[in-house]
Amino acid sequence: MTTPDNVFWQKYDIEQNNRIALLHQEPLVLWFTGLSGAGKTTLANALARRLYGLGYHSYVLDGDNLRHGLNRDLDFSVAARHENVRRLAEVAGLMYDAGLITMVACISPFKTERDFARSLLPDGRFVEVFVDTPQELCEQRDAKGLYRRARAGEITNFTGIDSPFERPAHPEMTIDTSDISPEQCADLMIEYLTGHGLLTELATHRPA
Ligand code: ADX
Repeated sequence: MTTPDNVFWQKYDIEQNNRIALLHQEPLVLWFTGLSGAGKTTLANALARRLYGLGYHSYVLDGDNLRHGLNRDLDFSVAARHENVRRLAEVAGLMYDAGLITMVACISPFKTERDFARSLLPDGRFVEVFVDTPQELCEQRDAKGLYRRARAGEITNFTGIDSPFERPAHPEMTIDTSDISPEQCADLMIEYLTGHGLLTELATHRPA
């Protein structure tokens, strides 16, 4: 859908570059995609802790959490998931504009919406992290008991059971959490970000 021609873009004096100067950091979006139980939230949490410790301003948009508010009206049909992820992408774009290192943790099963999220950002500022934990392990973990309920037919449209997951073809990072701890995953992500020059050197603003 395109914006109607009776709606205008309003310009503000304080722009992203002003916020960047104040925050002493370059914003970025890290998009965690993968099956339920793959470890997206755990990884985003570990990275958020690490970034906080280093003095960066970050925020996590978690699919489950946003479904308690902004996305409360959406179920798990294909159409509603498209809309769910579209909204997450738009909000991530706004957080990026605000100057934050933004993490998004949601299944985001469809390539179209993940690509849409990427398209909202400048080249190189979108890091797709495919949390590629084998489904058998996700099902074994079954922290929320949802796989069991989906297998029993109590929940429909469950990703990996009766709803598809399109594997990312070219993610910036692929992490299988089978054999490594969240802290090791955070090490890998920090290594990736520093190695690719995506974390600004912060001289100040480190929390004590
Ligand atoms: S997405 O597919 O639209 O990106 P999102 O990440 O927001 O999904 O929400 C997924 C979470 O909702 C899962 O972690 C799980 O806890 C819960 N959930 C409830 N029903 C389903 C379902 N049918 N399929 C997948 N996840 C579900």
